[in-house]
Amino acid sequence: MKPVKIGICGLGTVGSGVVNVLKRNGLEIERRAGREIEIAQIGARRDNPACDTSGFNVSRDIFDVVRNPAIDVVVELIGGCTIARELVLEAIQNGKHVVTANKALIAEHGNEIFELAQAKGVTVAFEASVAGGIPIIKSVREGLAANSIHWLAGIINGTGNFILTEMRDHGRTFEDVLAEAQELGYAEADPTFDVEGIDAAHKLTILASIAFGIPLQFDKAFTEGIGAISSEDVSNAEDLGYRIKHLGVTRRTEKGIELRVHPTLIPEKQLIANVDGVMNAILVEGDAVGPTLYYGAGAGAEPTASSVIADIVDVVRALTVDPDNRVPHLAFQPDALSDLKILPIEEVETAYYLRIAIRDKVGVLAKIATLLSDQGISIEALIQRQPKEQVKGETVASIIIVTNRVIEKQMNHAISEIEALCEIVENVHRIRVESLD
Ligand code: HSE
Repeated sequence: MKPVKIGICGLGTVGSGVVNVLKRNGLEIERRAGREIEIAQIGARRDNPACDTSGFNVSRDIFDVVRNPAIDVVVELIGGCTIARELVLEAIQNGKHVVTANKALIAEHGNEIFELAQAKGVTVAFEASVAGGIPIIKSVREGLAANSIHWLAGIINGTGNFILTEMRDHGRTFEDVLAEAQELGYAEADPTFDVEGIDAAHKLTILASIAFGIPLQFDKAFTEGIGAISSEDVSNAEDLGYRIKHLGVTRRTEKGIELRVHPTLIPEKQLIANVDGVMNAILVEGDAVGPTLYYGAGAGAEPTASSVIADIVDVVRALTVDPDNRVPHLAFQPDALSDLKILPIEEVETAYYLRIAIRDKVGVLAKIATLLSDQGISIEALIQRQPKEQVKGETVASIIIVTNRVIEKQMNHAISEIEALCEIVENVHRIRVESLD
């Protein structure tokens, strides 16, 4: 059979990884795909010393690739939403299948892209867009097809996890670890996407759609970054038997779908609480299978290339399959997507860790407990640190409270009442808590 001709757009960290792995493992990949996979063209504005492109047809205009009639599959690895969207839509218009690692593109424009792909009878594959080398899309979309999925929770940003781990284990500064993540090619072009939870929200949006069969709704995802986590919170969490992780959580409830990324206390006995460094992990709970856990490298050249090439193999195998019989992009048939609403964060129910700085006066703890109980919030654990700080001549102490589960708007109400107490020194620090049972 004739080789399948692919065109690679973008020769950054992931693009160079794809070229290198295809060169190294080409014969083995061909044995799996049933056809030779030939890199017929590479579109890249500049060379990458991490990858030798001698002998390849390299164009400085990436649009040459999608306009090349010889190309069967376009591999979009340039990132971003503007040019990437144009490129992918033009590739589909030209009847080409697309493989992409671009989570922002899929999370923000996936509905439009899949609709066009369906009309044109081509496939858009995006395994590498979530959790780098972990085959999580395939697992949820195909491996768990029998299940009604209740919830999933994941550490899905390697940079953020790397930063939290290094801060905890080696006392390094946030900026120092972030600079290393950038050098290693883990961080996004704009690293605020990593630390503010936007990158994780892109990935979570995609996971929620394939888990629950809902359209992609990135604009409704709640995100909170890791910038406000202090070393005090990290050690308090440890004392209480928890680890702090930047977690993406999506859950089906009777009222709608939760879709949220925020720092989270997780019991240290949970396997996912022990996922460190750049590694990612996703815990998925299905009604038939129960909990399942997927772990691996969430970023980096070759782990991400592993997912990109697996998608290329899938596309090659499905070239002769009737488009209506291919695996649907969002796991459910396009005309069977559900309109379950995404819950605003005020309606989400979680437990909380509160760190409250107080003037050390008689009765303040009782007042806080009363304000919490007025909102039906029960205290599960409480630590009062020895007063240690002197602020403007006053002794300041920290109270750390872990509560039971409560609707966020009730907690907001309790926190604003606590902050109004004259004994309170600064705004209450809150971190959500998930038991993941
Ligand atoms: N910046 C991302 C991360 C890269 O750190 O996880 C992989 O999507």
